[in-house]
Amino acid sequence: MQTLFDKRALLISGKGGVGRTTVTAALAMAAARQGKRVLVAEIGEPDEDLAALGRLFGRQTLPADPVPLARNVDGVMLWSRKGHERFLSMVLPVAALVRAALRSKPLRRLLDAAPSLNELGVFYHMLTLAREQRPGGGPAWDLLIVDLPATGHALGLATLPDRILQLIPSGPIARSVKEGKEVFFDEKTSAMVVVTLPETLPVTECLELIEGVRETDLPVAGVIVNKVVGDDFTEEERAALEPVVRDNALFGATRFLGIGMVSSSLRRLEVESKTPVWRVPELPLEGPGLIHGLSDAMLADKTEILGAVDVAEPASGDRGGAS
Ligand SMILES: Nc1ncnc2c1ncn2[C@@H]1O[C@H](COP(=O)(O)OP(=O)(O)OP(=O)(O)O)[C@@H](O)[C@H]1O
Ligand SMILES: [Mg+2]
Repeated sequence: MQTLFDKRALLISGKGGVGRTTVTAALAMAAARQGKRVLVAEIGEPDEDLAALGRLFGRQTLPADPVPLARNVDGVMLWSRKGHERFLSMVLPVAALVRAALRSKPLRRLLDAAPSLNELGVFYHMLTLAREQRPGGGPAWDLLIVDLPATGHALGLATLPDRILQLIPSGPIARSVKEGKEVFFDEKTSAMVVVTLPETLPVTECLELIEGVRETDLPVAGVIVNKVVGDDFTEEERAALEPVVRDNALFGATRFLGIGMVSSSLRRLEVESKTPVWRVPELPLEGPGLIHGLSDAMLADKTEILGAVDVAEPASGDRGGAS
């Protein structure tokens, strides 16, 4: 995963519920533990939307200007309106004009209603954060990690620059979009990472998303398979047990059969995605403990990651019947 931590920006995508937010937070923590200054971002309304990412760091909401979340980790809510405001401040010479423009109801309605303009606002907000410098010079953050809301959004973002440039090929908007493309669409510095689960449907959706993004200029760095569990059974044991488990309503049967699918899902991803595939374990933890445990796994090599699955014991209660 070192290749990921050495980038300037990572856009984290994937279908709902696969653990995008958790993986985003763990990547941030892992990079921060390597001494990188990290900015994690989610998209929404600052101080209003419950910040899923913020909550993993103990905050209910996130503001549209970065705040410290942990050592070396700052957090921000990417907000289309913030992007519009910053863009207008760039093109309009006087602050009072910007405020007046933003108070204009027709303009506000236009900015809020046109989907591309909303995405453009978020994109511009991202760009201004990537441009931000620290007092001594150099970028304010080494790595920006964005938790994208859903698969559709990822494709929306991937196609945004070209859609905008077709509509508006020159002028300040076009210049900003081209600059954003240089920052976020250059595989040396930035990439999309798709998070998925080792199950049939999520793997299919992940492969579809990669295929869609490949048609755009946005590079895909690889796939993170979340919640990978180790299989305690040998092939022979599985062959003997599976018919029994399938035919009887046994406690833990679903989990047992699900774990059997993990290796075939991983193999399929490795063959079909044509990108690196990283595994992240399922840990019997929650909140900050989970983030810390996952960042440990990310900083270890693959053998140790799988080892972590084997040694991890549930904090309490049943692990689902797998053992
Ligand atoms: N590796 C893991 N081990 C154990 N639990 C995990 C792991 N990854 C995620 N979870 C748990 O799975 C649930 C969903 O995770 P998360 O909120 O990160 O998913 P998401 O993809 O961001 O969801 P959404 O689509 O709602 O934004 C959470 O309860 C989280 O604690
Ligand atoms: Mg989420």
